[in-house]
Amino acid sequence: MGKFQSHEVIVRLLHLLLPLQLLFLQSLSLSYTPPSKYFINCGSQNNTNYTGRTFVGDMSSDSSFTLSPKRDDPVVDSSPSPTTSQLYQTARIFKGPSSYVFHIDQNGTYLVRLHFFPFSSPTDLSTALFDVSVSGLPGLLQNFSVQNTSNLPLIKEFLLTINISKFTVKFEPSQESSFAFVNAIEVFIAPDSFIPHSALLVTRKGSKNSSYKGLLSRVLQKIHRVNVGGGEIEPGLDTLWRNWVPDDTFLFNRSTARNKSYDQPIQYQEGQSEYNYSDRYIAPDNVYSTAKEMNTNKGDQLQSFNISWGFNVTKNATHLLRVHFCDITSASLSVSPWINLYINSIFSRNIKIITLAVPFYLDFVVVSDNSGLLNISIGPHRDSPVNNSFLNGLEIMEIMQELRWVSIKNESKKKYIPLLVGSVVGGLALVCIVLIVFLLQSKCRKGKPAQATDWLPITVDRGLSSHGRIHEATIHSSPVPYLNLGLKIPFAEVQSATKNFSSKLLVGKGGFGNVYQGTLRNGMKVAVKRSQPGHGQGLPEFQTEILVLSKIHHRHLVSLVGYCDERNEMILVYEFMEKGTLRSHLYDSDLPCLSWKQRLEICIGAARGLHYLHTGSEGGIIHRDIKSTNILLDDDFVAKVADFGLSRSGLPNQTHVSTAVKGTFGYLDPEYFRTQQLTDKSDVYSFGVVLLEVLCARPVINPSLPTEQMNLAEWVMVWQKKGLLEQVIDPLLVGKVNLNSLRKFGETAEKCLQEEGADRPTMGDVVWDLEYAFQLQQTAMQREPLEDSTNDAASTFPLPTIQRYPSYSLSISNIHGPERRDGSSETTESEVFSQLRIADGR
Ligand SMILES: *[C@@H]1O[C@H](CO)[C@@H](O)[C@H](O)[C@H]1NC(C)=O
Ligand SMILES: *[C@@H]1O[C@H](CO)[C@@H](O)[C@H](O)[C@H]1NC(C)=O
Ligand SMILES: *[C@@H]1O[C@H](CO)[C@@H](O)[C@H](O)[C@H]1NC(C)=O
Ligand SMILES: *[C@@H]1O[C@H](CO)[C@@H](O)[C@H](O)[C@H]1NC(C)=O
Ligand SMILES: *[C@@H]1O[C@H](CO)[C@@H](O)[C@H](O)[C@H]1NC(C)=O
Ligand SMILES: *[C@@H]1O[C@H](CO)[C@@H](O)[C@H](O)[C@H]1NC(C)=O
Ligand SMILES: *[C@@H]1O[C@H](CO)[C@@H](O)[C@H](O)[C@H]1NC(C)=O
Ligand SMILES: *[C@@H]1O[C@H](CO)[C@@H](O)[C@H](O)[C@H]1NC(C)=O
Ligand SMILES: *[C@@H]1O[C@H](CO)[C@@H](O)[C@H](O)[C@H]1NC(C)=O
Ligand SMILES: *[C@@H]1O[C@H](CO)[C@@H](O)[C@H](O)[C@H]1NC(C)=O
Ligand SMILES: *[C@@H]1O[C@H](CO)[C@@H](O)[C@H](O)[C@H]1NC(C)=O
Ligand SMILES: *[C@@H]1O[C@H](CO)[C@@H](O)[C@H](O)[C@H]1NC(C)=O
Repeated sequence: MGKFQSHEVIVRLLHLLLPLQLLFLQSLSLSYTPPSKYFINCGSQNNTNYTGRTFVGDMSSDSSFTLSPKRDDPVVDSSPSPTTSQLYQTARIFKGPSSYVFHIDQNGTYLVRLHFFPFSSPTDLSTALFDVSVSGLPGLLQNFSVQNTSNLPLIKEFLLTINISKFTVKFEPSQESSFAFVNAIEVFIAPDSFIPHSALLVTRKGSKNSSYKGLLSRVLQKIHRVNVGGGEIEPGLDTLWRNWVPDDTFLFNRSTARNKSYDQPIQYQEGQSEYNYSDRYIAPDNVYSTAKEMNTNKGDQLQSFNISWGFNVTKNATHLLRVHFCDITSASLSVSPWINLYINSIFSRNIKIITLAVPFYLDFVVVSDNSGLLNISIGPHRDSPVNNSFLNGLEIMEIMQELRWVSIKNESKKKYIPLLVGSVVGGLALVCIVLIVFLLQSKCRKGKPAQATDWLPITVDRGLSSHGRIHEATIHSSPVPYLNLGLKIPFAEVQSATKNFSSKLLVGKGGFGNVYQGTLRNGMKVAVKRSQPGHGQGLPEFQTEILVLSKIHHRHLVSLVGYCDERNEMILVYEFMEKGTLRSHLYDSDLPCLSWKQRLEICIGAARGLHYLHTGSEGGIIHRDIKSTNILLDDDFVAKVADFGLSRSGLPNQTHVSTAVKGTFGYLDPEYFRTQQLTDKSDVYSFGVVLLEVLCARPVINPSLPTEQMNLAEWVMVWQKKGLLEQVIDPLLVGKVNLNSLRKFGETAEKCLQEEGADRPTMGDVVWDLEYAFQLQQTAMQREPLEDSTNDAASTFPLPTIQRYPSYSLSISNIHGPERRDGSSETTESEVFSQLRIADGR
């Protein structure tokens, strides 16, 4: 106990000192312009040179990025081959969610590469199964494994446009028992205009001469990068450290083509003519100085055929195709070929060579069909002066999810709207952000446990993979002036989804009306909340909920799929939440007990959602009705805050809102009750009550108990102040909770429940404290896997961890600084707001 406190003092001291240390670092860094360029050697103390760059060891003390939380260990190759680069002899493994945080000081398109090399070590790295997300954008890699990869190291490359100052790359095991790993990370800015904003769209039916807009607001993932007619180009020989592979394995008929190479200098030219000229960053000389050309006998002008390549791509996805040309085959312009380029045999484009040895490139956005194959062919145009055709290089990048934080430079925001509205109008399948929903009031769930395990979640990916359809909708639908109208669902659709409000599909009932589960025509499972006119949710609450929810999208906030206001109905359609309310997993039900770790994760999730509500938007949103029945769990127990009917948008420059007191008894902030001044600290109070509910697994008000025990918050705080919190926790947790973790949790709840709002922490602080409690639990579990560690609290306090990782402190203060606490949510909100504003302005 005494030991614990002294450690706590040290941590406090670190808190005080770190800002100073940071200041010092900042003043040092003023003398040079930070490069926005990160090459990281994960799991190593040593910097290592690789492909002409220095990869900085992420355990070295002077790193310019942070890793948080620092709870996981590095691994080292136990039998490295002498030819293996140092880079691939160490890795970092993550048994829980962990993020690298990078400071970005220049807006633009970034290349992000992740290197995976499962070397031999006590932990079999090839069994890792994990997800990677960036700055809160999920799904960069999902259920990712290197198990059956033959081409090692496996390098995943993404291109994304970043305009936020803190960029995070987060690794998270896909399953409880799994882990994540990474050997090296690269994050660096690409040259200007590396990726265009738009490119000609080639759909499955060919091209309608329309362009795909918004490439810069998408994540692109490299699928193929081919040096046609030449050998492999290693990263060290490429201007942007790319890897180019030979094309021969992609050829349908190898005897149709032969290699051609050129030993004169390539004439890079600036600007654009009919085509965009290339530069050395678009592709290096080695790509342009080799080509495949038709394998014809010299002088044979009769035999005309195409050279065709086939590339495996994701089925039904959209790809950016970049083809590189440079005429190195012709002796003079008068005998320079005129080429037909065919894409998937449904689109062709004439390419007339106008200068020799000058490289240029063309971009197309190609919607792949169900074959999973992208076909590229070249052949001589019928009017070509010579019977030849050639190709120098080719790149295929999959267009993945939409970036929610990006800003697009030099671009009017209006251009965004058609895509957005189009995607919404073009069928609800495309309301992509949404997963699944379940809205239930706890009273009503008796006898209706979340049995819907056969309900498949609709993942973000699935919603987004039909870009083709999104895009077609974009082109043909006329813009709708209000975004909200895009969420409107016809009553008939709601009726069909719920089998005309069948009582069999009724999953909840309450003051607001009924909640049904339903399935939209596109297969999406939803929760349908239908207010009963007269005694249901009032119109203001209905409107508030639509207004709030259509503006915000966050992993930890329940998403609105749509609404229906036809025939005086007030119907809200949400994502379906498989596991129901948090409360139903705590007490008064026979659902299995949540572990302490699960409970912490749920609290952290809900706290993040709330933090996002408070800070993400301009002026902030106050929920006003935080309680355990308004925290819902999805199939993976990911917590999402729900029910925004009472929420309030704070006005800018106004720290509180005076309003009639609303909320739920037992959770209600006494200060708000007294003063009627609503602030975000009222939510913090209610959240503190939820924390205690989670800890003690009992109702917040239980009139059947003795008076002193009746009110959960009052009763538990008595024990907390006595330092005997463990006496009153959920009996099912006894012996399974690390005491330090418990203590941190108790302190966090206590701070939330302070009488004066001003004394309470912000939700961002709460997130950090809970993450810390989580870390304490994790550390204890890793150290003493065989022990229940309740009795050796002091010895498990991770001071050694702090000493071992010098930059631990840095990550604390980084997380602790205002605004940057939660990299995952810091900007999506303003993005959404700006969209709304545009919509309003039309
Ligand atoms: C770091 O470098 C030192 C000496 O250069 C070497 O002894 C040590 O093994 C290296 N550590 C790792 C993790 O590669
Ligand atoms: C890496 O290269 C730099 C110069 O490019 C050199 O100063 C440094 O000593 C090299 N480091 C190692 C570990 O070889
Ligand atoms: C990046 O762009 C955002 C808005 O698009 C702007 O607020 C920010 O200042 C820019 N940052 C830099 C370093 O240019
Ligand atoms: C990942 O795996 C989990 C469990 O195996 C599964 O539920 C989920 O659908 C998978 N996600 C994807 C994108 O494949
Ligand atoms: C790897 O291949 C084996 C055998 O083909 C298969 O059982 C396993 O599921 C594969 N693993 C992954 C992650 O694809
Ligand atoms: C396609 O559009 C461009 C300009 O947007 C125009 O110059 C060209 O003639 C069009 N081509 C066809 C085949 O419609
Ligand atoms: C072309 O060159 C590459 C790399 O040198 C080689 O692997 C390939 O076999 C050659 N192809 C032909 C058709 O000669
Ligand atoms: C491959 O191309 C050559 C030359 O054009 C042709 O003679 C041969 O029939 C083709 N083979 C196949 C299997 O198509
Ligand atoms: C050239 O590039 C610009 C932007 O980088 C793009 O808008 C334009 O369409 C490209 N032109 C051609 C012919 O591809
Ligand atoms: C492409 O996909 C097919 C079938 O899915 C598979 O047989 C083939 O090996 C794949 N080719 C490459 C180069 O991955
Ligand atoms: C791709 O689309 C076709 C038709 O649109 C559909 O039949 C097929 O199931 C889809 N494939 C995948 C993998 O989604
Ligand atoms: C990023 O760009 C978007 C769109 O222009 C903008 O709404 C957002 O505020 C920007 N983010 C930052 C951090 O400036």
